[in-house]
Amino acid sequence: MESAQDKYLRSHTTPQGEALSWIEKQTNIKTNFPQMLSGAVQGRLLTMIVQMMRAERVLEIGCFTGYSSVAMAGGLPEGGHIDTLEINDELEDLIREGFRRAGFDDRITLHIGDAKMTLAGLSAEIERGIRQPYDLVYMDANKREYCDYFSYLIGMVRPGGFILADDVLWDGKLYEEKLPVDRQTQGIAKFNDMVASDDRVEVVILPLRDGLSIIRRKP
Ligand SMILES: C[S@@+](CC[C@H](N)C(=O)[O-])C[C@H]1O[C@@H](n2cnc3c(N)ncnc32)[C@H](O)[C@@H]1O
Repeated sequence: MESAQDKYLRSHTTPQGEALSWIEKQTNIKTNFPQMLSGAVQGRLLTMIVQMMRAERVLEIGCFTGYSSVAMAGGLPEGGHIDTLEINDELEDLIREGFRRAGFDDRITLHIGDAKMTLAGLSAEIERGIRQPYDLVYMDANKREYCDYFSYLIGMVRPGGFILADDVLWDGKLYEEKLPVDRQTQGIAKFNDMVASDDRVEVVILPLRDGLSIIRRKP
């Protein structure tokens, strides 16, 4: 259920547009875990981060039904582009219809498959100079694999670029007196420690929803 704070935040945040409302509604009707969708407040933040950075090349890991991809695409300048990664091919039709309704099918490329495999391919292209590094990355897929994603991403984001990592407080589990032993919590804990001690980056965690890390690759 939506908390009083969430309700207040949403009612004082610029409302989402028609396409995002459609994606949210379809997600509620057609998927088993609609709570995975980022929603109007985080969606608006993502749009604004893209705008603030004037990001042109964006990578997303964990597309789900396309809500955050469309939110970020809404902040792109003319010619900007997003690559988004999703493992669940049953979502493909819904994702593509949302992109079409938003008018962004030419701004977003959907890569269906396992994120680590796709990251290996994209990072090899960056290394070979046939693809440019990303300005901004939004990670929101398998929490057990955050450290693996980060190992790829540090070489895929340009110096001075940003990586956003979602769910890094995992419902408060990260600061419980005894860290839960489940693999998702352990994966995020390891990731947060890894980033905090990596001197190639600077990081701050915002307590928005389940926690959002903003990580900057030092120039
Ligand atoms: C929390 S949801 C993403 C929510 C979405 N970013 C949004 O804001 O609406 C996580 C998504 O990551 C996908 N995912 C999980 N493991 C993955 C993997 N190994 N490769 C690619 N996608 C994966 C899941 O299928 C799910 O759709």
